[in-house]
Amino acid sequence: LPVSVYNNQHEASVAVANKIADLIRSKQAKGEKAVLGLATGVTPIGVYTELVRLHKEAGLSFKNVITFNLDEYYPMKPTAAQSYVTFMYDNLFSHIDIEKDNINIPDGTLDKDEVVAFCLAYEKKIEELGGLDLQILGIGRTGHIGFNEPGSAPNSGTRMVTLDDLTRRDAARDFGGKADVPTKAITMGIGTIFKAREIILMAWNKKKAQIIKKAVEGEISGDVPATYLQLSQHVEFVLDADAASELT
Ligand code: F6R
Repeated sequence: LPVSVYNNQHEASVAVANKIADLIRSKQAKGEKAVLGLATGVTPIGVYTELVRLHKEAGLSFKNVITFNLDEYYPMKPTAAQSYVTFMYDNLFSHIDIEKDNINIPDGTLDKDEVVAFCLAYEKKIEELGGLDLQILGIGRTGHIGFNEPGSAPNSGTRMVTLDDLTRRDAARDFGGKADVPTKAITMGIGTIFKAREIILMAWNKKKAQIIKKAVEGEISGDVPATYLQLSQHVEFVLDADAASELT
């Protein structure tokens, strides 16, 4: 399994940002769109910071970029401080020249009976654009990718899911307590992620070392959804030395 270990998360983030920039530029040169799958959370922040820098200081344009975020809490108002819409605008979209219409994030405001149709349309839209060129991922301590918690099926699509208790505890700080963390989310499925032509999973810090060991070296099982990535021919794990510290 391709695992790249960097001295620190800054160097790793710059490498991933450069990869994304190369993809955007090579698509631009061909007059094509780049279709990116994006993640939230603390892990990709350095990548977004570097992409913003490349936009401001090196003329990288996002006019030909279409994005699909992995997930959003449910229910969640886009204007809420904890929404993934707010996160993406604060960390990336507000600072680059991407077209608003090219941004796709699961909608946390839907009525329950609208969710299934929304999820199918999300999948269809990705497909009609030719699929995801690159999906970036973090990993949760449950082994989730997106919000595909333990028990998720390898062929799962975009859908409403119930968050694991550990995931809600890890999010408690953002919400001022676990009780206020939504119990549900809308997430791309493992199957959706798998269809991307390239997948990069990033992890930093000691806190992720144990789950990275399981994800990379453990038995492939729905108990640790990230282990399904071992079956992909197009995945790269990008780690800092701390997250890689338990690998043999
Ligand atoms: C976020 C997402 C999650 C996070 C994971 C790690 O869109 O899908 O899988 O990547 O929970 O979160 P951080 O990076 O905050 O440790």
